[in-house]
Amino acid sequence: MMSQGLVTMSYVAASILFILSLSGLSDQETARKGNYYGMAGMAIAIIATILSDSVNSYVVLIIALMIGGFIGTKAAIKVEMTQMPELVALMHSLVGMAAILVGYANFSDSSNGLEGVEKTIHEVEIYIGIFIGAVTFSGSVIAFGKLCGKIDGKPVLLPGRHFLNLALLIATIWLGNTFLSGAEVGGGTFSLIIMTLIALAFGVHMVMAIGGADMPVVVSMLNSYSGWAAAATGFMLSNDLLIVTGALVGSSGAILSYIMCRAMNRNFLSVIAGGFGSSSGEAAAVEGDIAPIDIEETAKLLSEAKNIMIIPGYGMAVAQAQHTVNGITKLLRAKDKNVRFAIHPVAGRMPGHMNVLLAEAKVPYDIVYEMDEINEDFPNIDVSIVIGANDIVNPSALDDPNSPIAGMPVIECWKSATTIVLKRSMAAGYAGVGNPLFVHENTRMLFGDANDSMQAVLKALNT
Ligand code: TAP
Repeated sequence: MMSQGLVTMSYVAASILFILSLSGLSDQETARKGNYYGMAGMAIAIIATILSDSVNSYVVLIIALMIGGFIGTKAAIKVEMTQMPELVALMHSLVGMAAILVGYANFSDSSNGLEGVEKTIHEVEIYIGIFIGAVTFSGSVIAFGKLCGKIDGKPVLLPGRHFLNLALLIATIWLGNTFLSGAEVGGGTFSLIIMTLIALAFGVHMVMAIGGADMPVVVSMLNSYSGWAAAATGFMLSNDLLIVTGALVGSSGAILSYIMCRAMNRNFLSVIAGGFGSSSGEAAAVEGDIAPIDIEETAKLLSEAKNIMIIPGYGMAVAQAQHTVNGITKLLRAKDKNVRFAIHPVAGRMPGHMNVLLAEAKVPYDIVYEMDEINEDFPNIDVSIVIGANDIVNPSALDDPNSPIAGMPVIECWKSATTIVLKRSMAAGYAGVGNPLFVHENTRMLFGDANDSMQAVLKALNT
């Protein structure tokens, strides 16, 4: 058993490590260190909690840790890099579920000895904690379904949805009032259950109404909600570390959502209200001839080029082509070519997806640029290679006001002398819209799996 003072000191140390972890994760070069800080903080937090006097049944705790640890380890070993966003969404749902369960457990525990204002404050914590937990849980389950393709990515827009949301919110506030007055006389269960059902419905409605291309905002928003749900759990359990950690996750998730919204040129409130980006008109059909290119021609164009830009997208993650791409990059740089990478903020399926893949393949950080830093440079580029990207290089986002991705800034690769697009077919990307880039006069299509194509190009460049 640890003394309370030692537990508090350990919690302070863990909180500092979590803050260092977040600051480390804000930059690619320090991200690995940031992860180590986070792991150390979590280890200290778990050990201090286990050894604190709030734990009185080690058998149950050890069984729960073993079951949770087993499932978590198995999932982490099995998950493909491309399934990571779904796994994260599922993890968020668990945080939401934990907040609901802790809320109900606290509500049914009459032995806390609280009275008067303290009791009311505790009940408010329970009510808000369960509300946030339920929205996080059901919203994350729907996000999981949408990310893994089990639920259609198209927005489901109920008629009068904004009024519906408003009505649900008013009902939640009214039920909160009846819950607090009901709880005074030992009741309130009915209001709590109805509010939980409303919050679950609200989470489903909110995420179902959001269209494919706006999913990044939802993912980061649910990340933030899961933090607030954890903080609410901390209040219910009077656990300071959980409050601090939850608030850190909640606020960093909110900042990330804001960054995502800015990157997608979306208004945060409109995205939360749902259905933003779903224009009323029909997107223009893509017409024109495609111009294919083969491996030898691709290698020749690259050999002759001076300035080369690589634009990776979700298909690079599917093909696991990052190592081959790094091989080509090294070779071209050794031939004195200016090779750079342009990264769209929502490329792939999770924030920083492409940066993680490129870091894994050891692509030097100083040749990896954010879209904003590099977009103006495209008129000076000889060859752009689009590797399994689609929505993030779709010019209709800028030209077609009826496109579901209208207004989203995109990587303007069509301004380079030649753009080579690697993909397997003419299939649409995540947002399900046609892409005029594929029929642009400067574009050449290299069909096939991105890794196979890149390996063949590497071989051709070497001969
Ligand atoms: P997408 O628009 O999804 O396009 C990916 C392309 O990769 C597809 O057109 C696909 O075409 C191709 N592809 C798949 N497997 C391939 C393979 N093995 N080899 C070669 N090509 C392959 O991806 P993007 O351009 O990266 O855009 C991201 C989209 O996801 C955006 O709409 C974004 O809003 C959304 N989203 C992002 C996030 C975050 S946080 N980043 C989260 C959720 C949703 P083929 O099938 O023809 O090969």
